[in-house]
Amino acid sequence: MKIEFRNIHKRFGAVHANNDVSFIVPTGKIYGLIGENGAGKSTLMKQLSGYFSSDSGQILLDDRPVKIVSPADAVRQGIGMLHQDPLDFPPMRLLENFMTACNHGVILPQSAALKAFNDLCKQFDFDLDPNAFVNEVTVGERQQLEIIRLLWLGVRTLILDEPTTGISAIQKVKLFQTLKKLAQQGMSILFVSHKLEDVQELCGELAVLKRGVLVGTLTAPFDERKMVQLMFDQAFELHPRSDVPLGDSALDLKDVTIVEGPNRMEHANLQVRKGEVIGIAGLEGSGQRLLMQSCAGLLRPLSGYTAINGIDLSGKGYPFFEQNGVAFLPADRLVEGLVSGMTIAEHAVLLAQKEKRPEGKGLFINWKAAIEESDSRIKDFRIKGRPESTVNSLSGGNQQRTQLALLPAKISVLIMEHPTRGLDIESANYIWDKLLKRRDQGACILYSSADLDEILQYSDRVLVCFANRIHAIVPRKELSSEDLGYLIGGKSLSDLKSLAM
Ligand SMILES: Nc1ncnc2c1ncn2[C@@H]1O[C@H](COP(=O)(O)OP(=O)(O)O)[C@@H](O)[C@H]1O
Ligand SMILES: [Mg+2]
Repeated sequence: MKIEFRNIHKRFGAVHANNDVSFIVPTGKIYGLIGENGAGKSTLMKQLSGYFSSDSGQILLDDRPVKIVSPADAVRQGIGMLHQDPLDFPPMRLLENFMTACNHGVILPQSAALKAFNDLCKQFDFDLDPNAFVNEVTVGERQQLEIIRLLWLGVRTLILDEPTTGISAIQKVKLFQTLKKLAQQGMSILFVSHKLEDVQELCGELAVLKRGVLVGTLTAPFDERKMVQLMFDQAFELHPRSDVPLGDSALDLKDVTIVEGPNRMEHANLQVRKGEVIGIAGLEGSGQRLLMQSCAGLLRPLSGYTAINGIDLSGKGYPFFEQNGVAFLPADRLVEGLVSGMTIAEHAVLLAQKEKRPEGKGLFINWKAAIEESDSRIKDFRIKGRPESTVNSLSGGNQQRTQLALLPAKISVLIMEHPTRGLDIESANYIWDKLLKRRDQGACILYSSADLDEILQYSDRVLVCFANRIHAIVPRKELSSEDLGYLIGGKSLSDLKSLAM
């Protein structure tokens, strides 16, 4: 089935997630859709599969303009999507799941469904047990189940959104074989990915999205340099940075493994010295969040050694890290950072209590002192708010300024997720000025950002997470934005060296 996107627009509030996207996916091909996090890939695919409607623009199937009103409607029109985010699976057997949403019009006897199930498994060499429970099988097996289910429903276009995340190497080989076979049989396949290798292996053509805009289409064999150039921003000025001498080791990780639900960070080794700034890059879910949370004592690693300023804190909780000078500014300012409903002055009291300053001591809170104190912090950090303003009434930029204003006086390790996400340039620069002052006073800084410019601009070293590991740690001076793009996409440093030749 030929698919055409024509001038598709989709907004979420201020975010223009798809901005005038037009391209054609030919019949019987595996077509790649690539772009960094937040580029708008899933949003576009969800319009084709009936989960979202477009704000404007048209989708044409075999040159016929269509309206796709729901996922079931999409399936009726021949389009099925495998999702990036695992859907909730009730404790249902594989065969029962296979039979759900069946639109064959009649209620088939279970024996017929079982036959279809087995035939399809055989055809694609899937080893699925129809009586196993869906919530107990692996991600890869659920994916196989979903593929045969959609095939049985008669789809002629299959959308896979980041399908190689969370499946084993063997399952990936099988998935790729299946997709190639399906394309040969005339199925159109849309393959969404940020992994250069995967699209290189699989796709004949691809489209690149950046910040909602289609920035290019390419034909195989793909020039990886070109892919990376299209995916990531190129032109920016590198800010020269003052060379603050590095001090002793502030943070040490040796072979740290962290597991939280389905997320992992395995065998992390890292040493950060006083005065050093480490930018952490990687696509969402590559393990960086776990790494940062464990460095702050917010998650207990399964194994490994963690020390702050040479003091062994392995297995200890957040209070110990806090006492030893670790501060953590989470991405979710209002959920984990600030207490919604509390005022700036109340936060200042909490801080005074934590730091055991006189204003915070004793039975009675000295409100006059607390208000004066927060007033001076508000001025110092140019927060648009008052001591009695609740933090949830502040804008995002002012919430971030408030978090910074409320950092304890003594910090040796400052860990931040997306410190300037959602802020205007002026606020972002201001916040970095304040952060670098902390660095100049001897704190080391670890921060994550999805903005490669921000990573390259402020880091001394760049740490890249990929597939639940620290994939590379590279001195900033040796790293171009292009190479950073490659590393984030899973290329290794040695690949880059050979590319350069
Ligand atoms: N349901 C939603 N509500 C609000 N914003 C959304 C929603 N879905 C996606 N977005 C935003 O749209 C942009 C594109 O997201 P998405 O399509 O998921 O990107 P990608 O799949 O390329 O990583 C992002 O800024 C994201 O935050
Ligand atoms: Mg996505």
